Amino acid sequence: MTVNGSDSDDLVVALVPAAGRGVRLGGAAPKAFVAVGGTPMVRLAVDGLIASGAVDRIIVMVPPEFVSSAVALLPETNSVDVVVGGAERTDSVRAGIAAAPEAAYFLVHDAARALTPPDLIARVAAELRAGRPAVVPALPVVDTIKSVDEFGAVTGTPDRSGLRAIQTPQGFAAELLRSAYATDTNATDDAGLVERLGARVHTIPGDPMAFKITTPLDLRLAHALLDERTAGLA
Ligand code: CTP
Ligand code: MG
Repeated sequence: MTVNGSDSDDLVVALVPAAGRGVRLGGAAPKAFVAVGGTPMVRLAVDGLIASGAVDRIIVMVPPEFVSSAVALLPETNSVDVVVGGAERTDSVRAGIAAAPEAAYFLVHDAARALTPPDLIARVAAELRAGRPAVVPALPVVDTIKSVDEFGAVTGTPDRSGLRAIQTPQGFAAELLRSAYATDTNATDDAGLVERLGARVHTIPGDPMAFKITTPLDLRLAHALLDERTAGLA
């Protein structure tokens, strides 16, 4: 693809975790293979990465029994590869990292953020190219957040102004992400592992359209938004 005209020492590789089971969505298929407006989420996410013009290669991590269906539904280009993911998201990302020894930068982007605007992807990549080692999209938190103990009693109310909800794609200098994943460790996001190394993670403004489709309500929202988009094009 080399859509951004990168030199070989400058390659941006997107890793797309798509190997989750989608338990909270409760669909018949693993979540990434559930369709939104007729197109499986994983295809929408990959199309968004390609449309960003900021990515040289895409590696999609899927459940072992979904490799052939993923190959069939993804764009036919030798810049998109499918590999087997793992039991935890961390295992899936680790499998993607291992498949791209040539990467200079990684963008880790959930298939479940199927409607992410290409512009957000390009902004994360641009920050990496400008020299930031770790970049994540962030939005202000709209709800008040409380910590609770095991009995449900409130133990604290952090100041909301200092909190952010974090999205993907999360961008990293490849060597930094490889180091973060070198240990046998687990986290819900990639930046969390990088933070444990003591590296500085920079936030940029996120986009509400990059929301993660997690529950049936999220899926209804995504359907409605895609319908609007299609109607707008008609
Ligand atoms: N993911 C993955 N490998 C796993 C678990 C998750 O590649 N072992 C991916 C999912 O496919 C998804 C992204 O990581 O694109 C974010 O995870 P999440 O929203 O939690 O998806 P699921 O794990 O599929 O959903 P659930 O937790 O409800 O089962
Ligand atoms: Mg999950």
